[in-house]
Amino acid sequence: MPTSLDAIQPHGGALIDRTVDADVKDGLLERAQSMPKVKLDERAQSDLEMIAVGAFSPLRGFLSQRDYHAVVESMRLTNGLAWSVPICLQVAAEVADGLKEGQQVALTDESGKVLAVLDLEERFRPDREVEAQRVYLTTELAHPGVRAIKEAGEVYLAGEIHLLERPDTVAFPAYHRDPTQTRALFRERGWRTIVGFQTRNPIHRAHEYITKCALEIVDGLMLHPLVGKTKGDDIPADVRMRCYEVLMAKYYPHDRVVLSVYPAAMRYGGPREAIFHAIARKNYGCTHFIVGRDHAGVGSYYGTYDAQKLFDQFQPGELGIQPLKFENAFFSKTTGQMATQKTAPGGPETQVNLSGTKVRDMLRAGELPPPEFSRPEVAQILIDSMKG
Ligand code: ADX
Repeated sequence: MPTSLDAIQPHGGALIDRTVDADVKDGLLERAQSMPKVKLDERAQSDLEMIAVGAFSPLRGFLSQRDYHAVVESMRLTNGLAWSVPICLQVAAEVADGLKEGQQVALTDESGKVLAVLDLEERFRPDREVEAQRVYLTTELAHPGVRAIKEAGEVYLAGEIHLLERPDTVAFPAYHRDPTQTRALFRERGWRTIVGFQTRNPIHRAHEYITKCALEIVDGLMLHPLVGKTKGDDIPADVRMRCYEVLMAKYYPHDRVVLSVYPAAMRYGGPREAIFHAIARKNYGCTHFIVGRDHAGVGSYYGTYDAQKLFDQFQPGELGIQPLKFENAFFSKTTGQMATQKTAPGGPETQVNLSGTKVRDMLRAGELPPPEFSRPEVAQILIDSMKG
């Protein structure tokens, strides 16, 4: 439970816990066997876990139709709280046809193991084109977030959940901490201000630079890589974890930095996902959140600083977590340091800026990118993983 010692309140004021108490677990699990079953894919399983442990507080389940429309249209829940990405359970019409509102439904993993019970309050069939356009700013299937909602079922199930078992997708146990645990850890360390860093990539020098700039002004840094479902050509989470570990071992001060995983699925929703990422990190106890260039972006769907600008649409204090906005960072040949345009003179020719494609090509060829771009230890892990 959050205490008055917590530096920051969860979104909506209380950390949600939808995990079933041990004394009633067996009974519910038994009853669940005779309930209608709905199979969850990897993404829905991670949403389930995130809701249950309070990472998505104040959500207690999958969004109701009214909340869904409010979020899609105005980035708010019906109670007025900021919320930018709809968290919904989508099922095929044939599955939904077998379910009745008001009944309890067992949610299972792909093997049929019961993970949770849903109090099915509503079924609805929204216009996913509208959702895609509002949330992702495009309806193109080439966008991985749009593709995910369009490929999932057309009927949305709403209702509160009761978590019985964690999904098997739970990975990296040594770094897997729920919001209550990160909050406890921050308290233990005496940190009052904590910056959260979202990433779905290996940490390169630009990432390292902005995290360390942030660390100059707060008590602690939580490296919080997303390890839920990502698109096929992103670097797999287990490879990235090895990169983060080597950086933790050599380049980050242990007393001021923690590495912990964020088990959510990536939505590639750019600006809206940046707001969502910030709110979730507030639930984990962060007071500050890094938003750099093209946060949670993909392809050229979003402008470089659109995610940063979206924070300005909320009243000061409304999100309850302070965004720390960083411009594009690079190694400056003029100053011999990592920098941004704000801190180094000279044009693009003085900046070591490598495209993702260029870096991938180098790594695939077994070539180390320049140390100004990536720590050699990190690049070596990536090269080795590509050989595999
Ligand atoms: S993301 O999808 O998780 O946002 P990535 O892991 O690349 O992708 O980025 C993590 C964070 O670092 C984001 O806040 C992003 O905006 C920021 N970032 C990435 N590269 C740079 C860079 N060169 N300069 C400034 N910020 C960056």
